[in-house]
Amino acid sequence: MAIKLTVNGQSTTVDAPNDMPLLWALRDVLHLRGTKFGCGIAQCGACTVHVNGTAVRSCITPVGTVAAKSVTTIEGLSADGSHPVQQAWEEIDVAQCGYCQAGQMMSAAALLAKTPKPTDQEIDSALNGNLCRCGTYLRIRKAVHKAAELATNASTKKAVQTAAR
Ligand code: FES
Ligand code: FES
Repeated sequence: MAIKLTVNGQSTTVDAPNDMPLLWALRDVLHLRGTKFGCGIAQCGACTVHVNGTAVRSCITPVGTVAAKSVTTIEGLSADGSHPVQQAWEEIDVAQCGYCQAGQMMSAAALLAKTPKPTDQEIDSALNGNLCRCGTYLRIRKAVHKAAELATNASTKKAVQTAAR
């Protein structure tokens, strides 16, 4: 089955059965290995990607259901590590073993796109399904606040540059 979709801004065709989990299409067919397999049953969040901007569990999402949609993986958050979530994660040094972190970051990025200044409760609720066996939850929460701050500064800077033209 040739399934057309957009992945990280590029139109692509995946040759796979409709019911192949999106996770395997990304990792095994498109060789995007940043998205991780944890549980395979939507219980850990390691496989989180965005489909049309919404965080989804790619392990239980059949690739056929994302035909003609836009998928973003951790590799597509930014080409150069400049996404506020990437910058904040690095600054706060969030990762321990790192296995869960791509999923955590994708959930955080989806939250910030809809809620630019989330409260602790909003962060906890949005990232509730993303498990971390290393227990980095406090650093994750701190990094989401930091990313919100960086995003605000970046948009303020952009507005100032635009106004100065
Ligand atoms: S691998 Fe998808 S939620 Fe755990
Ligand atoms: S950093 Fe190790 S599982 Fe989260």
